[in-house]
Amino acid sequence: MGKIILTGDRPTGKLHLGHYVGSLRQRVELQNSGLFEKIFIMIADAQALTDNADNPEKVRQNIIEVALDYLSCGIDPTKSTIFIQSMVPELTELAFYYMNLVTVARLERNPTVKTEIVMREFGKSIPVGFYTYPISQASDITAFRATTVPAGADQEPMIEQTREIVHKFNSIYGETLVEPEIMLPQNAACLRLPGTDGKAKMSKSLGNCIYLSDTPEDLRKKVMSMYTDPNHLRVEDPGSVEGNCVFTYLDAFSRTEHFAEYLPEYACLDELKEHYKRGGLGDVKCKKFLYAVLQEMLEPIRARRHEYEQDIEGVYEILKKGCDVARAEAAETLDMVRRAMKINYFEDAELIRQQSEAYKSSK
Ligand code: TRP
Repeated sequence: MGKIILTGDRPTGKLHLGHYVGSLRQRVELQNSGLFEKIFIMIADAQALTDNADNPEKVRQNIIEVALDYLSCGIDPTKSTIFIQSMVPELTELAFYYMNLVTVARLERNPTVKTEIVMREFGKSIPVGFYTYPISQASDITAFRATTVPAGADQEPMIEQTREIVHKFNSIYGETLVEPEIMLPQNAACLRLPGTDGKAKMSKSLGNCIYLSDTPEDLRKKVMSMYTDPNHLRVEDPGSVEGNCVFTYLDAFSRTEHFAEYLPEYACLDELKEHYKRGGLGDVKCKKFLYAVLQEMLEPIRARRHEYEQDIEGVYEILKKGCDVARAEAAETLDMVRRAMKINYFEDAELIRQQSEAYKSSK
């Protein structure tokens, strides 16, 4: 059986560099590798609503932003199906059945959800939908019989939860669902890109993001004010590259060719790091190099975004077609699930006949 990808993002904002290195870049490579039979990329609006119920307008606006980000990064709608989660209502029905296979105690242990609850300051007022979104995510994945979920490390607990649901379902109702695997980014710096302020994660709510759609001027300002080594006060001082986000970003984005082009005094990143550690290399020089590297990468993405922005109707057309394809696929899985659970009441003619016989003969 061919390999199938399902992955996605919540439309709560434009996508940023963390998304790019954490998964977008890899998705494009996987898409173009030809190794996958089907690729589904979902804009998870229903999941976004689990903590934005009071602001559906924000979610609606960001669906198009995320779609533009996908297309401009090189997701090709002739190779990958891009769709909107809530337009595939089969996903909700699947989640409803999966809910019976998961305990409240198990949901409580999900480390990603725990962190999010603290970050959102929910206290005791956690929306039920939010609390159960890992179950809904299991539906997203299994509905497409996905084998592979390219995603960031923060999604690991969701895939784990999905695998448990698959096991439980298959052991109760018979082999039906496919067990997925997560595919993490290969480069360690990409596992969790820090924010420009050096905080552990690039995140809209922390205001420390570089967006794929930032202008060159925004980008320059953000790079030039990035967090480095607070003890590296004078150029002559030895500096630390650990926890210095300019170097973390260079780990994630720079290639040897960039040195020949923008910083020929150094052959490679290791040489640059050595000089920084020794002392005598200023932050500004490193930041200018990083700006050049990011600018080179982001410029074509920005240009493609600009083109798609001129044809928003066309983008909606792409999404609509994607939703149709996704819906047909999810409906097939839902049929299999109902059959396995024997809740396909009107389809099982044999069962109806047996019941009917039983009633007649009991008279
Ligand atoms: N939880 C993901 C995020 O926060 C979005 C998502 C929803 C997802 N369903 C998914 C990712 C299924 C991978 C697979 O961005």
